[in-house]
Amino acid sequence: CLWVRNLRLKRRLPGPFAWPVVGNAMQLGQMPHITFAKLAKKYGNVYQIRLGCSDVVVLNGDRAIHQALIQHSTEFAGRPNFVSFQMISGGRSMTFTNYSKQWKAHRRVAQSTLRAFSSANSQTKKAFEQHVLAEATELVQVFLRQSANGQYFYPAYEFTVAAANIMCALCFGMRYGHDDQEFRTLLHRVDKFGETVGAGSLVDVMPWLQSFPNPVRNVYEAFKSLNEEFFTYVKDKVVKHRETFNPEVTRDMSDAIIRAIEHGEGSILSKEFVEATVTDLIGAGQDTMSTVMQWIVLLLVKYPDMQAKLQQLIDKVVGPDRLPSVEDRSSLALVDAFIFETMRFTSFVPVTIPHSTTSDVVIEDLYIPKDTVVFINQWSVNHDPQKWKDPHVFDPTRFLDENGALDKDKTNSVMIFSTGKRRCIGVQIAKVQVFLFTAVLLHQCNFESNPSEPLTFDCSYSLTLKPNRFCVRTKLRGKMLGVVS
Ligand code: HEM
Repeated sequence: CLWVRNLRLKRRLPGPFAWPVVGNAMQLGQMPHITFAKLAKKYGNVYQIRLGCSDVVVLNGDRAIHQALIQHSTEFAGRPNFVSFQMISGGRSMTFTNYSKQWKAHRRVAQSTLRAFSSANSQTKKAFEQHVLAEATELVQVFLRQSANGQYFYPAYEFTVAAANIMCALCFGMRYGHDDQEFRTLLHRVDKFGETVGAGSLVDVMPWLQSFPNPVRNVYEAFKSLNEEFFTYVKDKVVKHRETFNPEVTRDMSDAIIRAIEHGEGSILSKEFVEATVTDLIGAGQDTMSTVMQWIVLLLVKYPDMQAKLQQLIDKVVGPDRLPSVEDRSSLALVDAFIFETMRFTSFVPVTIPHSTTSDVVIEDLYIPKDTVVFINQWSVNHDPQKWKDPHVFDPTRFLDENGALDKDKTNSVMIFSTGKRRCIGVQIAKVQVFLFTAVLLHQCNFESNPSEPLTFDCSYSLTLKPNRFCVRTKLRGKMLGVVS
């Protein structure tokens, strides 16, 4: 009968025993996504843990995640009202704001501006591709300089600068270069962003940690000041754009956002949302792009035979006299297969940014109340043995069909950009950027690891999984090519 059904639906979600005060915080370990997947074996794909003062529902596996984010897309589209989230982008971040009419308008502006400057038509596609190629060839030069006299170097940081440069070129019409010290220092600090907002971070769920000196409080204070600094940096540039804004000419994305928010018909966003949007966009791509490129280089040096195979293919398709381009993509299926396998194998955004429920909801017969924090375990989808043969083996060819073409069904099953209403809006530009960076680096350089340092997949957990520091050196292959801008 209905009464029994409701009682069953309203039963407490399964999950491990939660200790007073800390809940399950001490059980998460160094790699919470792996702990979450282990707990799913015991409690099912939907279960509850307690972190400090917050109940958190953890979703694992394709079925439960799709049921939540696609079938109940609105109910799972919220963000928790964590204090740290309100420190981002001057308190007006789109990414870290709860689901609302205002959020929808904000996301629409950000999404349509990105599209207008990267993929709206063949002209913008080409212009975007040129930006990325210019940055990739600059990166080649930086790497070669750093490898002078056979030295080994740590490539992570140059990737952050390159990713930020691409967004700055789009947003402000200018890039800052690898030698700009102010820009480098700022980005170095922004690199720490993911430690605070990653799922399982404790700063927001244990507010009492703020009241006495301890390492978590230090993280919180540092997070606040890095956000203020980054926001001020971007705001200065937006203010200059506003002063010289001409409605007849759209110079870059800042102008396009000013136009949409301040001059658009029926805009419900105040002008302060302009600088917040630009900050969100520049911030969003950096950590993710730098991390994926670090993993790509690490895997290239870990599997030198694969590196050689990719280079042979690129040499055959592209030749020595020009750089790879987006048009080569369909002939370079193995390059894309290598990239997808890197994303699946590393699952470098293991858990999405925390979600929250916007109303009471039932999934897999389990009742989840409104305003519950929800963690989405992307890693569990990418390592499900029912879905992937030998998920712990790195094998790019799993993405190729019998004709050597990219298997689109398989590539679409990798979960790294999330899905549903909060799906990453940078997917298209991220894919083009990763493809071009990888293809250009392989076309122009050989990468070698330092034989005296063991090469492992050890990494540290935050919003992204960052490989432990590793060094490489590069050698030029053939002639160095540049981009005519
Ligand atoms: C959100 C992944 C690059 C802009 C996200 C989320 C993930 C993600 C997992 C969270 C989705 C959720 O909470 O369910 C990635 C990966 C990237 C990448 C793996 C690179 C390989 C970019 C780039 C941009 C971008 C280059 C923009 C220039 C955003 C924005 C959001 C977002 C604005 C927030 C969306 C919202 O809350 O509505 N991304 N991202 N991302 N991403 Fe990306």
